[in-house]
Amino acid sequence: MAASSSRVMLGPLVAAIDQGTSSTRFLVFNAKTAELLSHHQVEINQSFPKEGWVEEDPKEILQSVYECMERTCEKLTQLNIDISNIKAIGVTNQRETTLVWDKETGEPLYNAIVWLDLRTQSTAERLINKTPGRNKNHLKHKTGLPISTYFSAVKLRWLMDNVDEVAEAVLTHRAMFGTVDSWLIWCLTGGKSGGVHCTDVTNASRTMLFNIHTLDWDPELCKYFDIPMEILPKVRSSSEIYGLMKSGSLSGIPISGCLGDQSAALVGQMCFQEGQAKNTYGTGCFLLRNTGAKPVMSDHGLLTTVAYKLGRDKPACYALEGSVAIAGAVVRWLKDNLGIIQTSTELEKLAASVGTSYGCYFVPAFSGLYAPYWEPSARGIICGLTQFTNKSHLAFAALEAVCFQTREILDAMNQDSGIPLTQLQVDGGMTSNRLLMQLQADILCIPVVKPSMPETTALGAAMAAGAAEGVSVWSLRPEDLSEVTSEKFEPQINPEVSSS
Ligand SMILES: *[C@@H]1O[C@H](CO)[C@@H](O)[C@H](O)[C@H]1NC(C)=O
Ligand SMILES: *[C@@H]1O[C@H](CO)[C@@H](O)[C@H](O)[C@H]1NC(C)=O
Ligand SMILES: *[C@@H]1O[C@H](CO)[C@@H](O)[C@H](O)[C@H]1NC(C)=O
Repeated sequence: MAASSSRVMLGPLVAAIDQGTSSTRFLVFNAKTAELLSHHQVEINQSFPKEGWVEEDPKEILQSVYECMERTCEKLTQLNIDISNIKAIGVTNQRETTLVWDKETGEPLYNAIVWLDLRTQSTAERLINKTPGRNKNHLKHKTGLPISTYFSAVKLRWLMDNVDEVAEAVLTHRAMFGTVDSWLIWCLTGGKSGGVHCTDVTNASRTMLFNIHTLDWDPELCKYFDIPMEILPKVRSSSEIYGLMKSGSLSGIPISGCLGDQSAALVGQMCFQEGQAKNTYGTGCFLLRNTGAKPVMSDHGLLTTVAYKLGRDKPACYALEGSVAIAGAVVRWLKDNLGIIQTSTELEKLAASVGTSYGCYFVPAFSGLYAPYWEPSARGIICGLTQFTNKSHLAFAALEAVCFQTREILDAMNQDSGIPLTQLQVDGGMTSNRLLMQLQADILCIPVVKPSMPETTALGAAMAAGAAEGVSVWSLRPEDLSEVTSEKFEPQINPEVSSS
C-alpha cells in the first residue's frame, strides 16, 4: 500500500471518552508523551422541562459517543496515523447523573436526570426528616456525603416513585440503574446482548448507596433508600479491563479505564501525593484534594470521596471535595438567557475592558448552593447595581463569582486539613480565560498553575485505561507526561486587600 510508507510511527495510543454535562468528546493521546493527537467534540442538548429540572436523552448521549469516535478515527487516518495503534479506551463522565434502562429491550426508561437537577428537593427533605434528629449528615459516616438533591440515590428514588415504567421494570427484575459511565460501558460492550453492567469506585461513591470504607454497595444504605441491590452495577476499580468494544471502527479494543470526571482530572494532573489539589472549571467547579489512603471527614461542609483505585489489587485513594454547582454555567446563562455576549471569549474582553465590577456582586446560585452550605433553596442574586453599572461590570462580577466560590471551598479545605495549600493546579474549559486565572490567584493569594494541555480530565481517563493490567502501555510516571508543560499565575495583590 502506498499510504503505509508515509504512516506516522508513534507507538501505542490510548483514547478517552469524555462525556460531560454539555458535550461529549473523544480524544486520542500518545501513551509515550501524553501528546493529544486528535479529538472530536459534539454538543449535548439539555432539556429543562420544568423550573429546576435538567434532563438529557440517553440515546443522544450514546449516539454522540459513537459519532465522536468515528470522526476522530477519520481525522487520525487523514493524519496518516494508524488507528490500530489505539490499545485501550478510558471513560470519564459527569458524575451523579442518573439513568434507568430495561436490560431486555436495551431502551432507557426515562431521560437521564442531570446532576444539578433540583426535582428531588422534596424527596431529599423527606429522607432527611426520616433520620433521627433530622440530620442531613446521618449517612455521612458511611458515604462521606450529606443527604442532598445532588446524589444518585435520591434521583433514583424519585424515578421509582414517579415514573411508572421504572417502577414496573424494577418489580419485574428488568431494570438496570447506572450513572452515565455504566450506561455507556453497557451499550458499548454489547448492550442487551451481553453488555457489561459495571461502574468504578469513584462513580459509585457519589450514589449514596456505596460504603467508602468497604468499597462496595452497602445493604443498609440500599434498605434506607428502599432500592433493590440487583439493579446496581458491579463495582470495579478505576483501571482494569471491563469489556471489549462490540462495534464501530474500534471494535475489539478493551475499555479499561473508568473514572469520575473530577477524579480523572486529579489523575491527569498527577496529584498522586497526599495534600496535592486541583480545581476544574467546567459547568460547575470542583476542587479535590488528595488525602491519601485515609478518608478524612469534613467539619466544614466538604465531601469525602474515593479519588481513585488504579487496579484491582491497588489500594483506594481518597479525596476531600468541594463542589460548586455553577461556574462555566454562568457564562452560558449570560449568553443564552440575557444575550449580553455572543461567545464566551467575549466575556473576558468585556470584563477586561473595565477591570472591576464597580461594587456589583453576582451570586449564581441557580441550583441552590452546594459546598460548603448544601442549601437547595438558595437562589441567585445580582446586587450592588448603580446607574453606572453596565454589562462589562456584570461580566467582571460573573468571573469574580467563580473565584469567590473557589476561595470559600479552599478556606474550608485548609481548615479541615490544617495545612494551607501552597498552590492550586487548575484545568477545564474556563482556564483559557487568562483574566479569570489572574483573578483567581489574586483572590486565593496563592499561585495558580495551569497545564499547557487543558484536557486533563480526558488524559486522566486515558492514563487509567492505558495502565490497566492486560493493556500496560502507560506507567503513570511523571516522565510519561513529557509533552505537558504548565503556566503559573502569581498573586499580584497583597493578602490584606483581597481578604477584606
Ligand atoms: C438538539 O435539539 C435540537 C432542537 O430541539 C434538535 O434540532 C437537534 O436535532 C438535537 N440534537 C440532537 C443530537 O439530538
Ligand atoms: C465514573 O465513571 C466515569 C467513566 O465512566 C468516570 O469518568 C468518572 O470519573 C467515574 N467517577 C465518578 C466519581 O464519576
Ligand atoms: C462600561 O462602563 C465603563 C466605565 O464607564 C466603560 O469603560 C465601558 O466601556 C462600559 N462598557 C460598555 C459595554 O458599555
